[in-house]
Amino acid sequence: YESLKSFPDDFLWGASTSAYQIEGAWDEDGKGPSVIDMAQHQEGVTDFKVASDHYHRYKEDVALLAEMGFKTYRFSIAWTRIYPKGTVEINPKGIEFYNNLIDELIAHDIEPLVTMYHFDLPYALQDKGGWSNRETIDAFANYAKTLYENFGDRVKYWLTINEQNMMILHGDAIGTLDSNLENPEKELYQQNHHMMLAQAKAMILCHQMLDGAKIGPAPNISAVYPATSKPEDVLAANNFNAIRNWLYLDMVCFGRYNSVAWSYFEEKGYVPEIQEGDMEILADATARPDFIAFNYYSTATVEASRGNDDAKNSTGDQQIVIGEQGVYKGHTNQYLEKTEFGWEVDPVGFRVTLREIYSRYNLPLIVTENGLGAFDKLEEGDVVNDDYRIEYLKKHIKQCQLAITDGVELFGYCPWSAIDLVSTHQGSSKRYGFIYVNREEFDLKDLRRIKKKSFYWYKDVIASNGAII
Ligand code: BG6
Repeated sequence: YESLKSFPDDFLWGASTSAYQIEGAWDEDGKGPSVIDMAQHQEGVTDFKVASDHYHRYKEDVALLAEMGFKTYRFSIAWTRIYPKGTVEINPKGIEFYNNLIDELIAHDIEPLVTMYHFDLPYALQDKGGWSNRETIDAFANYAKTLYENFGDRVKYWLTINEQNMMILHGDAIGTLDSNLENPEKELYQQNHHMMLAQAKAMILCHQMLDGAKIGPAPNISAVYPATSKPEDVLAANNFNAIRNWLYLDMVCFGRYNSVAWSYFEEKGYVPEIQEGDMEILADATARPDFIAFNYYSTATVEASRGNDDAKNSTGDQQIVIGEQGVYKGHTNQYLEKTEFGWEVDPVGFRVTLREIYSRYNLPLIVTENGLGAFDKLEEGDVVNDDYRIEYLKKHIKQCQLAITDGVELFGYCPWSAIDLVSTHQGSSKRYGFIYVNREEFDLKDLRRIKKKSFYWYKDVIASNGAII
């Protein structure tokens, strides 16, 4: 292009966090345990009990976000603060905390963007089968209703389930699957079916109860490249798209199962049990999203699989990775650099992903995660020179602008993460934030907040509405 389109005037610049990774106060003020609180965490990395202590420091944190000029802030509500046992009894202290947080954001002109469920399923529900149990569907719908009743007067943007596709594809990664099951994949797709229903019910309720509110899903979407131009590799990439990306978005946007994914279920014996009335709920016109939120870290590259590969993905991950058994196989992309944690970096792939989602679903898009995890170094005088993060984000924001110029309707960008927090599996020394939190893996120090170099840079990005990129 000779000239690029500008970001829209009302573009939602912000950043993201999730409750269990930032709040701490894991058992305070009536909060119940979640699956995360009860999980055996990896040796050598911190647990989530204190995290970044945001529960006690939210005012200071919001003031810092406001100083950066945030237009929005994506955070999640801990289901177990609202319903310590997942359902029935409401915890008023939990309602109070999020009322305070939301009010604080609004007082600073920051639009709250709320994820209802970000990996932290109430343990009490897990104990009764979690997502394998159909009762969890209604527990979620009831929880959603409570959120709308209490916060719907101020929250206009809702996200249902964070990365449902990652929860399913990575199986037991967050402690919700019984690893002794004989056919874990079948069980995961049963859980997936229930999550789809829970999401549909939450969307229907949102549209019934809240005038003018908008709701969307928040999967992790990656464009995929075939490893070569060999037709079999292209077909493998096609399979990957169906099973990893479109299965989730086709259901929420079109109200039906993706046909390739469905044939795969039939072939493998993973067909979920569908009860009478389920497909009607999923197809309900008011269960359609108003926008699509998605998380993007990198693309994937795959090759054809002859069906006898073991269940490992390209990063050597040992968790169950559905799909790698016979329909595609992960491949390292030789053209991409990697972060110090081994994640491929692909800004151009971000534009490809934005184009693909938009052309398939024609809905407004918002990016709810994108970012660089690194071992940041706190230097003399409270300085963090995270130039590598600035570089990473700059390249990705440029691709957003290119995608907007391509015609993609993108209305916001929320990288991961606003403030340093505890990574899902790699502890608190894997940092993503614009704001450094002074703690080590096991030494909590003073948890004070320190503005990184990227803090000042992102502030300028927002002030110029992306023009300095
Ligand atoms: C996303 C999750 O998958 O990636 C976040 O929604 C997570 O919760 C983020 O923190 C980065 O992954 P990690 O493993 O580096 O924390």
